[in-house]
Amino acid sequence: MNQLEVLRESLGQCDEIILDALLMRNRIVEDIMVYKEANDLPVLQPEQEVKQKGWLEARMEGRRHKKEVNDVFASIIQNSKRIQSRNLFNYNIFLIGFMGAGKSTISDYLKNVLAMDVVEMDQCIVERQGMSISDIFETYGEEYFRELETNLLIEMQSRSNVVVSCGGGVPMRERNVVEMKKNGRVVLLTAKPETILERVKDNHDRPLLENNKNVSFIADLLEKRREKYEAAADIVVETDGKSELEICEELIHRLREAEANK
Ligand code: S3P
Repeated sequence: MNQLEVLRESLGQCDEIILDALLMRNRIVEDIMVYKEANDLPVLQPEQEVKQKGWLEARMEGRRHKKEVNDVFASIIQNSKRIQSRNLFNYNIFLIGFMGAGKSTISDYLKNVLAMDVVEMDQCIVERQGMSISDIFETYGEEYFRELETNLLIEMQSRSNVVVSCGGGVPMRERNVVEMKKNGRVVLLTAKPETILERVKDNHDRPLLENNKNVSFIADLLEKRREKYEAAADIVVETDGKSELEICEELIHRLREAEANK
């Protein structure tokens, strides 16, 4: 064997070690999930990730290839999250609720802690149409916008493990509810009108609220929509006064319960 062949063989041995370690790590991630469920522990423990980052930082202090090693570990962590989220949800999660109920915030959080893909319906429609929601309403009318929403929900049926942050009007069409339930669970996020006002007051992307930013308008529209929102929901999570972590933890537990009772 010449030196190159020897080096290549050593590299191959390293890959074997990495592969075995990765497979072992993935199994441990699954075992941890089982343990947490059996002992009724929270699924999300973001402080663990902080701890792990601190460990890596300390171990790599002053060493070569720090960035390369960090990248590999970042990817390992993403994969662990994906293993967890696929284990938890082999379906899509449709977040519904009034404007300002927290759909976008919670989908971002789930993306962060469980590496789930997120489809933000409004944003997706805006990008595809190349115009704002307000301009779509003005130029083509609300009905056209509602049709785009339905088509996007149908498109989601070819994917799974995606969090879909629905526009506030989505559950108002019965057809939309049928489409969402074909491969998803519908989670209704709720908030009091006062909380909603506080969350939307500085935003100008919601034509329905633009000149109606007051508690009584919000309370009225909310009341008009309540029945349809509740009828569409597989589970309901109240968001007032809760942290994102608390909301997501509740969502995970309630969905798991709902699956178990099916
Ligand atoms: C709407 C909610 C908005 C957006 C559009 C109409 C509604 O989405 O789709 O302005 O009818 O409630 P958000 O709930 O994401 O703000």
